[in-house]
Amino acid sequence: VLSAQEKDTERLVAVLDRLGRMSVEDYYNPYRMFEWPDTLPTDELWMSRDLLSVYNTPFMDQLSEEQLIRLARWESVNFYSLNVHGIRELLIEVVNRIHLPGFEIPSDFFHHFVGEENEHMWFFAEFCKRYGGKMYHFPRLKSATKVPEGADVENFLVFARILIFEEMVDYYNSRMADDESLHDTIRAINRIHHKDESRHIAFGRELVSLLYARMKERRSAEELRAIGAYVQEYVTFSLHSFYSLEAYDDAGIEDPIAFRKTLTADPARVEAERQVARKPTAFFHKLGLFEKAAA
Ligand SMILES: [Fe+2]
Ligand SMILES: [Fe+2]
Repeated sequence: VLSAQEKDTERLVAVLDRLGRMSVEDYYNPYRMFEWPDTLPTDELWMSRDLLSVYNTPFMDQLSEEQLIRLARWESVNFYSLNVHGIRELLIEVVNRIHLPGFEIPSDFFHHFVGEENEHMWFFAEFCKRYGGKMYHFPRLKSATKVPEGADVENFLVFARILIFEEMVDYYNSRMADDESLHDTIRAINRIHHKDESRHIAFGRELVSLLYARMKERRSAEELRAIGAYVQEYVTFSLHSFYSLEAYDDAGIEDPIAFRKTLTADPARVEAERQVARKPTAFFHKLGLFEKAAA
């Protein structure tokens, strides 16, 4: 009879086998994949209306259509900048573990993952530079939550953060890939990324479940509560990174700090944020991590 962990490992091997084959079949040349027009139309939205950080708030009426278009332009530069920074950070962590003991099973898949993410990082940076003329800064979480030290916790948190990041980005990607009002280049970037990420997310869920099971065996309820609180904090931090001071500034918003404060405190945004974080939140609840955090 197999233990729960052995069963999880068997499952991971099967999933990796399938995802690895899909990576090979779906392989594409990113440098030939997209059409990059010299400019994108400046009289239409570059981001879906319902993904704007002002959506569902009084600012939707207070700002003119012209101002919304300008905001959408810089919020899309923020979105792709967040991708570039997020990918770089996750690549560092995955590359560090690619041939480390304990990661023998996903090692092959990590090679696909690293290759694909490098390409994503390239096309997102390309978008920022071509159409924004710049990339925004990388927001860093300055966490007040103390988590226990140890490789088990570190490994779990690295892949939990990657999963949260990929799930949230995917929410935006899926929406923009489907949005017929957006320019073809914008839709294509989001569509291609969504396709690759569906594999990464499927893999991430399996790996994070396994790392959680390993960590749980060695940690007290109190330690797990602290870890849950940190993950929750990371979700909130990630949601707030979509309210970009730099984007507000470039969009011509008079007082970006006050603007951001008003938006993040608006109850209408809570529902929007709940949607963006719905999948990772449900996942961590199911795992048992968030119940513990709430207890
Ligand atoms: Fe990616
Ligand atoms: Fe990914």
